Amino acid sequence: MRLAGKVAIITGAGAGIGRATALLFAREGAEVVVADCDPEKGAETVSLIKENGGAAIFVQVDVSKAADVKKMVKTSVERYGKLDILINNAGIYAQADVVEAAEEEWDRLLDVNLKGVFLCSKYSIPEMIKGGGGTIVNIGSEAGIVGIKNQVAYNVSKSGVIALTKSMAIDFAAHNIRVNCVCPGTTETPLVKAALERAPDPAAARRALEEVRPANRLGRPEEIAAGILYLASDESLYATGSILSIDGGYTAQ
Ligand SMILES: NC(=O)c1ccc[n+]([C@@H]2O[C@H](COP(=O)([O-])OP(=O)(O)OC[C@H]3O[C@@H](n4cnc5c(N)ncnc54)[C@H](O)[C@@H]3O)[C@@H](O)[C@H]2O)c1
Repeated sequence: MRLAGKVAIITGAGAGIGRATALLFAREGAEVVVADCDPEKGAETVSLIKENGGAAIFVQVDVSKAADVKKMVKTSVERYGKLDILINNAGIYAQADVVEAAEEEWDRLLDVNLKGVFLCSKYSIPEMIKGGGGTIVNIGSEAGIVGIKNQVAYNVSKSGVIALTKSMAIDFAAHNIRVNCVCPGTTETPLVKAALERAPDPAAARRALEEVRPANRLGRPEEIAAGILYLASDESLYATGSILSIDGGYTAQ
C-alpha cells in the first residue's frame, strides 16, 4: 500500500495509461480522482476501481479550460480534504508536418498536451502547499526526447512538457513539491490503436512501430503505470526534475 492515505488526481484516467494508473493507485491505497473529458469512460474507470474495493470519484474536465480545471481541484479537495498527487496524463495525438498542419489542430494539440499541464499544475500546487507538499508526474513521450517524423505538434508539445517539468521542479522544491516526468514509448492504448487503424495496412504499421525499438514490441499501459507509481510515491523522495524513459530502449539508440 505505497499510496495509503494519499489523494491523487489523474487526468485522462478514462482510458489507456491513465486508467491503468488509476487502477494501480487505488490498489496501492490512494483515493483517486478520475478526471476526464469523457464521462462514460471516466465512470467505467470508477466502477472498475470500486469493484476492486478502491475509492474513486469521477470529475469531468477539459484540461485546456481553466474554469474546468479550477472546478476539478475544488471538487477533489471538497471530497477528500486535501491533494497530494497530480498525474498530468491527458493528451491527444495528431499527424502532420509544419506545412500540412492546420493552425487549429496545432492550437488544440498544444492547448491540451502542454497548456493542460500548466493549468492543472497551476491550480493544484497551492492546495499541495497548504498540505505541506506533494508530487506531480507529467506524462511526456519519447517524441519529446527525439524527433519523430510527421507529428510536429505532438513532438513540440511533449518537449514542452519536459521543459515544464524541470521548471516546476526547480520553482517548487522549497515547498516540498517534487515534479517528475515519465516518457513512454509506443504503448498499446486506444490512442495508438486508433492511429494504427487509420494506417493503410495496420498490421504492417504495427510491425514498423515494434521493430524500431530494441525490445521489439509495444509497451503495455501497466508497464508505464509502474513508473508513474514510483515517481508519485515516497520511494522516489530524492527524485525531482527527472525524466524517466519507459520506451523499450527507443531513445537509447
Ligand atoms: N500510447 C502511447 O503510445 C503513448 C506514448 C507516449 C506518450 N503517451 C502519452 O500518454 C498519455 C496517455 O495516452 P494514452 O495512449 O493512454 O491515450 P488514450 O487516448 O488512450 O487516453 C487518453 C484519455 O485522455 C482523455 N482526454 C483527452 N483529451 C482530454 C482533455 N482535453 N481533457 C481531459 N481528458 C482528456 C481521453 O478521453 C482519454 O480517456 C498522453 O499524454 C499521451 O500523449 C502515450
